[in-house]
Amino acid sequence: MTHLRCSIADCGAKFDLHDRLLACPACGELLEIAIDPPESEPSLIKNLWRERRLSFHPRYSSGVWRFRELLPQYSEHHIVTMSEGNTPLVEGRKTADWAGVRHLWFKHLGWNPTGSFKDLGMTAGMTEAKFLGVSTVACASTGNTAASLAAYAARGGMKARVYLPTGQASANKLAQALDFGAEVVQIQGSFDTALDALLEAEDENLYFLNSINPFRIEGQKTAMYELLEQFDWKIPDYLVVPGGNLGNSSAFGKAFMELKKFGFIDHVPKIVIVQAAGANPLARLWRSGGKDLQAMAEPETVATAIRIGNPRSWKKAVAGIAFTGGLVTDVTDEEIGEAKSMIGRDGIGCEPASATTLAGIRKLASEGRIDRDATIAAVLTGHALKDTDYIIKSHS
Ligand code: F0G
Repeated sequence: MTHLRCSIADCGAKFDLHDRLLACPACGELLEIAIDPPESEPSLIKNLWRERRLSFHPRYSSGVWRFRELLPQYSEHHIVTMSEGNTPLVEGRKTADWAGVRHLWFKHLGWNPTGSFKDLGMTAGMTEAKFLGVSTVACASTGNTAASLAAYAARGGMKARVYLPTGQASANKLAQALDFGAEVVQIQGSFDTALDALLEAEDENLYFLNSINPFRIEGQKTAMYELLEQFDWKIPDYLVVPGGNLGNSSAFGKAFMELKKFGFIDHVPKIVIVQAAGANPLARLWRSGGKDLQAMAEPETVATAIRIGNPRSWKKAVAGIAFTGGLVTDVTDEEIGEAKSMIGRDGIGCEPASATTLAGIRKLASEGRIDRDATIAAVLTGHALKDTDYIIKSHS
């Protein structure tokens, strides 16, 4: 039976799938969802996934729920979806030349309903909330989670409350949350302070939808199924992803672990996590070779989406890096700015946090740490229109 379990193998505690828990009661670590092996052959399931891509049925036209063989199961009326996913893979041209690599592809998750990858996790998290009969959902956010949560709560007929660090989320993201009818709570301090405030509130009436919620991770992992499908199941050498709270990189690690375990693929791409140099606790840990992450009290970067000093999912992200033989690096705000404008000039566009990927690829290629002939897939996490102030300022 698909169930909840502690994400730390040594603990091994197990729980019912729908127990309303955010952390393991035995050891305090994050939980994850243990998915049952699928009943059919991987090749048959791959065909089914592809066939569903042709469907107009809301459940199958969702680029998350068409992969339902590897997701928790729900009946139709619980599923809160806006046909998220099914986002394109776009070839990098000027960007590839600029980074000095030959085979570069962008998986643009910013081309989702609310303009970021959060929608992939939100359809899964909001569906669980609906199944549980929740009336109010909540999150702390640097902006994108708030926008996505607000939209999906509205679709699912639930109230939304979002905790934002005052003056630190872009105006565009704040505007989305307001437009979709969320109650906005401004918190003095960083994202980490906002998340602490929300968790400490211990309000039983609120259902938490930050990425520590394991259902969010289930939805987000499907981006990797779709990516490999778009590569016709030929495995790229690298998968490059920005790192903030490290939920997304954890989700991608889980996707590759499960696909390999269930026989869908025989090897995996190396996950490369790129952080902003001013908010880089994981990159510091990686360089130090240490075992414990030191949180940063005052993270600072122009890429406000990833201005996070105490990433909650770091252990899960480290597990994904270890499993895939990946690595972690960081890039300065100046490098992020240059990479962002190159992505714009390639006709693609993205928000600053997403541009860490291209900046990281350029850095690693110039240092000889990734092969220039390798096939590289970079995840763009947010749409260019997510932070228009940044663009205007950088051009004036
Ligand atoms: N890129 C964008 C555009 C984001 O909004 C985020 C996180 C990340 C990357 C990092 O992803 O946290 O899973 O490592 N945004 C969160 C938010 C924190 O509140 O919108 P992560």
